[in-house]
Amino acid sequence: MSPRRGAFRPDLYAGAVAVVTGGTSGIGAAVAVVLAELGAVVHAVGLGAEHATFPPGLRITVSELDVTDDAAMTALFAGLERLDVFVPAAGISLGERELEWDSFQRVVQIQLLAVYRGIQLARPLLARSHGSVVTVASMYATFGGGEIAAYSSAKGGIVQLTKSLAEVYAADGIRVNCVAPGWIDTPLLEALKNDARIHERLLSRTPLGRYGDPREVGEAVAFLASDSAAFVTGAVLPVDGGYLVVGI
Ligand code: NAI
Repeated sequence: MSPRRGAFRPDLYAGAVAVVTGGTSGIGAAVAVVLAELGAVVHAVGLGAEHATFPPGLRITVSELDVTDDAAMTALFAGLERLDVFVPAAGISLGERELEWDSFQRVVQIQLLAVYRGIQLARPLLARSHGSVVTVASMYATFGGGEIAAYSSAKGGIVQLTKSLAEVYAADGIRVNCVAPGWIDTPLLEALKNDARIHERLLSRTPLGRYGDPREVGEAVAFLASDSAAFVTGAVLPVDGGYLVVGI
């Protein structure tokens, strides 16, 4: 089956408004495209907005926004009349430098603290629409990553944040779920992919034998945020070609 074949009703998100952070590249951009193809109006925010390109005809607005800029984040949500789906997908990794204090803080700031701040700011709007949050964790929420210690710490935090907010926000009719992508072919993966030894190791350990397409994460998000997942909250859905189920 082609990884690009979507299976959703084409108007699944008609009338819905979504915000995607990290929507200027990789997984966030693919989430924006999938939701917009299904009828949503999408606000894609992130860095490098001037280089972000989307297929024509989709209702995606792109803006430059640093998720650690509290005033900008506050203004983003204050400027919305409606919000149905919030996907905080902005992220960075600094490799082994993450063991240094400044780098550790920077990664956790973007990958965990800014995620909660965004969700907190989105809450009143999502309560009005009985909307949904889909966070983005990683396989590194399950196993440790000595080479990316802050990233792994933050992603572990994202899973627990998701579960904790799922419990609290249920009172507002807001569902909070999480996707945990495996090795997805985005700019973030470039360095690892270009190392022949690592490339071989990653693919041979992935039962489905390939990298994921960012769209496949987008489609998992589209499911979790839709009414088809109306009784699903606090869930963590691996989108990893089976990487996590392999023991040795
Ligand atoms: P990417 O490098 O293609 O995209 C990262 C996005 O985050 C870009 O839009 C960038 O502008 C944005 N960003 C970074 N710092 C920001 C800031 N301070 N303010 C606003 N936006 C900022 O990377 P990718 O792969 O699309 O990653 C997206 C998310 O998926 C991240 O949270 C990453 O940890 C996660 N992920 C990626 C995997 C992969 O294999 N590519 C695997 C598991 C999780």
